[in-house]
Amino acid sequence: MAETPQETLANLLSEDRTFPPSPEFSKTANVTAAAYEEAAADRLGFWEQQARRLDWSKDWDRVLDWDDPPFAKWFTGGELNVAANCLDRHVEAGLGDRVAIHFEGEPGDTRAVTYAALLDEVKRAANTLTDLGVEAGDRVVIYMPMIPEAAVAMLACARIGAPHSVVFGGFSATALSSRIDDAGAKLVVCADGGFRKGKAFALKPMVDEAVEQCPTVEKVLVVTRTGQDVDWNDRDVKWEDTVATASNEHVAQAFDAEHPLFILYTSGTTGKPKGILHTSGGYLTQASYTHHAVFDLKPESDVYWCTADIGWVTGHSYIVYGPLSNGATQVMYEGTPDTPHTGRLWEIVQKYGVTILYTAPTAIRTFMKWGDDIPARYDLTSLRVLGSVGEPINPEAWMWYREHIGGGNVPIVDTWWQTETGAIMVSPLPGVTATKPGSAQRPLPGISVDVVDEQGASVPDGGGGFLVIREPWPSMLRTIWGDDQRFLDTYWAHFDGMYFAGDGAKKDGDGDLWLLGRVDDIMLVSGHNISTTEVESALVSHATVAEAAVVGASDPVTGQGIVAFVILRGVSESSPEHLAELRGHVSKTLGPIAKPRQVIVVAELPKTRSGKIMRRLLRDIAEDREIGDVTTLADNTVMSRIKTGLQGGK
Ligand code: WT7
Repeated sequence: MAETPQETLANLLSEDRTFPPSPEFSKTANVTAAAYEEAAADRLGFWEQQARRLDWSKDWDRVLDWDDPPFAKWFTGGELNVAANCLDRHVEAGLGDRVAIHFEGEPGDTRAVTYAALLDEVKRAANTLTDLGVEAGDRVVIYMPMIPEAAVAMLACARIGAPHSVVFGGFSATALSSRIDDAGAKLVVCADGGFRKGKAFALKPMVDEAVEQCPTVEKVLVVTRTGQDVDWNDRDVKWEDTVATASNEHVAQAFDAEHPLFILYTSGTTGKPKGILHTSGGYLTQASYTHHAVFDLKPESDVYWCTADIGWVTGHSYIVYGPLSNGATQVMYEGTPDTPHTGRLWEIVQKYGVTILYTAPTAIRTFMKWGDDIPARYDLTSLRVLGSVGEPINPEAWMWYREHIGGGNVPIVDTWWQTETGAIMVSPLPGVTATKPGSAQRPLPGISVDVVDEQGASVPDGGGGFLVIREPWPSMLRTIWGDDQRFLDTYWAHFDGMYFAGDGAKKDGDGDLWLLGRVDDIMLVSGHNISTTEVESALVSHATVAEAAVVGASDPVTGQGIVAFVILRGVSESSPEHLAELRGHVSKTLGPIAKPRQVIVVAELPKTRSGKIMRRLLRDIAEDREIGDVTTLADNTVMSRIKTGLQGGK
């Protein structure tokens, strides 16, 4: 976190547009306004009721044990099997023939995996893991493309109580080995490779290289996806020779509610990655409830699609555990949105009749840039709920999403949460909330999120400051794997008794929440704290801007000056007049204090592999410094292209 800002965040952007849910939607919505009241009257009782969504082998004695804060225990004494809650109980209820996963491979291969088939495969994988010496409590690292076997591997681990740690398939051998090492994993499950942007990419060589440095790894279990040549070592076993031939008889054993379910490393830009630890009962309760409430999932009729990768927490909670615990039918897509053409996602929505779509602002802004005519070629009328996650969504991107994907009448849920929170914390409820473009709005029932000033006092409506969580929540991280002290220092040391999320936020006049980005990105201009998000949103509200990234560059006069990098939309070139117009547009929208000192046109922006803009690197350019560490970028050549482009333009 940066130095505590001298002044709380300025509150610049205002928004008057609101979109109440249609009466028809509200009438059949899974959750009504009563949920807020019930949870306010009896918060723990509310969560206890949500835990009843799951099958427990043994009831809990206590809903919450907060005797040793901030180390929480939820549903203590309770026992359940997470995988059985995602699979067995649906099959036992006669839903075995329901499709769990409509898999769409990038090259066009498809598979429809029913709940019965998924259960069968998970049982065989569970038997295989046991045969390979994995026991409850042992860690398993999963390094896979987006194929059904990735979910199978996760659920097989959950079934036998072996915490998994999924490492995103785009990470390098070094990143992989540091995570295997930190987790002390006994087994790695991987594929030979996967398909991306029309080509096969390799994963197995990275595993071979990583495992050389990791003596804890005894076996590597390899799925064949691409069929490319791979080196074969003594420790390697093939999925086809083991899982495919293993027995499909497996009785799931129940584990304690606080049994570790997974470790997920946050892609921290500096320092050692943090292994965020999640456990079983509370995590599954909140993942399941929020998926039901926020997306209004009707498992008999909906076709749900979350476009995240399984390597991120979104993939854990809203591809695997939330949807499967709710018996959803979902789409899983292996590849990129522009392969073989920029209409691929909309083609998939049309093909499967997707009703609920959950994606990220970075993707939405890319679709805006590609043009309105692309989605217009497809029938998207099946869609009935649209979700957004990962970054603040700019109001104009929100409006574009509503209009061009949602046909102007579909509720949008902007969901704020983190790897650490495990599940959605702040979001509209689609049948209740009158939505506002750009605002995540309200904490979900049973969640107490607030915005506080630097002293930790709640700011009034209209004020800005730091987003905190005041009360423990079921799917909260339990610690940082192997490092309780870092857990305390990172999240609990800033404000007494409150979890500090690291994000800036404001409350508008109605008390609705607006997320304003990481506090490390907040700018200090002439003594005013200004969020990058608001200036970016102002730029994106200009018809010629698809995407913007804003940084504060040191300035002799103002402390920091605002420098904006923009990607154009609908026009191919800029001019000095156009740049002046953009600066004037920000000044008009937000006030003269937010007027950028400089606007720079670029063809692309530096982003992490999960799609977040890395402003730190743009600050290096704006301050004319040597560019810092680029290893967490999705494409680490982008910075040199931006630099060359700028020099060429001078
Ligand atoms: C950070 C967490 C949550 C799963 C994916 C990212 C930002 C996330 C929103 C949103 C504004 C958002 C925050 C948060 N963020 N969702 N709806 N509006 N900001 O998980 O990688 O742990 O990142 O993403 O800055 O702290 P993550």
